[in-house]
Amino acid sequence: MQGKHILLGVTGGIAAYKAADLARRLIERGAQVQVVMTAAARKFVTPTTFQALTGRAVRTSLWDAAAEAAMGHIELARWAELVVIAPASADFIARLAHGLAEDLLSTLCVATSAPIAVAPAMNQLMWRNAATQTNVELLRSRGVQVLGPGIGGQACGEYGAGRMLESLELVDAIAPLLSVAGPLKGRRVLITAGPTRECIDPVRFVSNRSSGKMGFAVAQAMQEAGADVVLVTGPVCLPTPMGVQRVDVESCEQMYAAVQRALPGTAIFIGTAAVADYRPISCAEQKIKKRNDKLNLELTRTPDILAQVSAGARRPFVVGFAAETEALEQHAREKLLAKNLDLIAANEVGHTKAFDCDQNALLLLWRGGRMELGPTSKRELGRQLTRVIIERYEQRERDARVASSGAQGEAHTGAESSRAQPR
Ligand code: PMT
Repeated sequence: MQGKHILLGVTGGIAAYKAADLARRLIERGAQVQVVMTAAARKFVTPTTFQALTGRAVRTSLWDAAAEAAMGHIELARWAELVVIAPASADFIARLAHGLAEDLLSTLCVATSAPIAVAPAMNQLMWRNAATQTNVELLRSRGVQVLGPGIGGQACGEYGAGRMLESLELVDAIAPLLSVAGPLKGRRVLITAGPTRECIDPVRFVSNRSSGKMGFAVAQAMQEAGADVVLVTGPVCLPTPMGVQRVDVESCEQMYAAVQRALPGTAIFIGTAAVADYRPISCAEQKIKKRNDKLNLELTRTPDILAQVSAGARRPFVVGFAAETEALEQHAREKLLAKNLDLIAANEVGHTKAFDCDQNALLLLWRGGRMELGPTSKRELGRQLTRVIIERYEQRERDARVASSGAQGEAHTGAESSRAQPR
């Protein structure tokens, strides 16, 4: 979102107070936020709040001569790279659906070529009302993004759909709408995430504590960087990041097959999954009975997905993860070399570290380089890791171009000298 121009429209509703936090979160992510408030919104929150948060005078009227002289409403409509209406009242949604342009915000929506997103917020009956639903469908059919609403208790004491999404949920939903021209536009990124489950019998499996949070955070950050992201995930309880293509699998064999299917055309592969290294030699057809005091489970190696991708003839840029309980750097470096990776992200695991938590820290290693990231949230780590991967990936592309132009030059010189010899 760095430097992106977001026009935040605030309409009348009790959720208008949440828009202040949304403005703050967008600013934190580096966006430039211009707030436009309707008259009804100003009955709930004052423009001063938004001005203090965004550092910009809030626009409220089409007829404010001084503001129009500084940046006319048509200029403002052109300035916006994204228009977000949060909260979007039932009344505003109706006006937007019918192209009315009777105040500054509705006029801007009609006059802009930027994408528009609305975050509905209203009483649950107003949301379910047939007119509202028709208007929402009309907006969707025209490409307006409808973010939410959430379901839950309402300010009026009722329960149902109509709550405005929380500001962090909105930021996550908005980011992909701005990423169309990101540095990875047109590039496919294939990511594995979560644990695998290796079947013992119809009701039991061997698995691990991976929640998928790290992999999903990387997938979201890569999507925000403009990539076409395919996320192959083991069983996790996480929502799919917006704009990401998700493939659900269970075992290592299934993950391996899904990766092989998605691999052609992939520019970057990232293995964040905690893939089982061993699986039971066979999966019992019936539930195993407890007949003896001891039960031996014979295990066999699973295919190493990461190593196979890296060994391919037309390999992508390959990023592995290393989960270590000791000698982090040494073991990670060994994996970097043994699996011929372009980059490895190593994390200390166990004792409540890395697995199934929201925070993490990564040690990045590549041939000739080293960098530490965090500790911080997995969302932030995903973004920081993405920036490093893009830098390293672009460097590899540049090196490949130089090497191929050098090889062509040599071939050219070689051809000249072989022609020259007979003379
Ligand atoms: O999911 P979370 O709860 O957010 O936790 C995140 C995490 C700790 C799982 C993640 O940050 C992480 O470390 N993922 C890699 C876990 C792992 O399996 O590490 P490893 O050192 O055993 O494997 C090395 C690499 O080989 C990994 O990229 C792994 O995906 C890959 N591998 C391993 C075995 C196998 N059969 N196939 C593989 O592709």
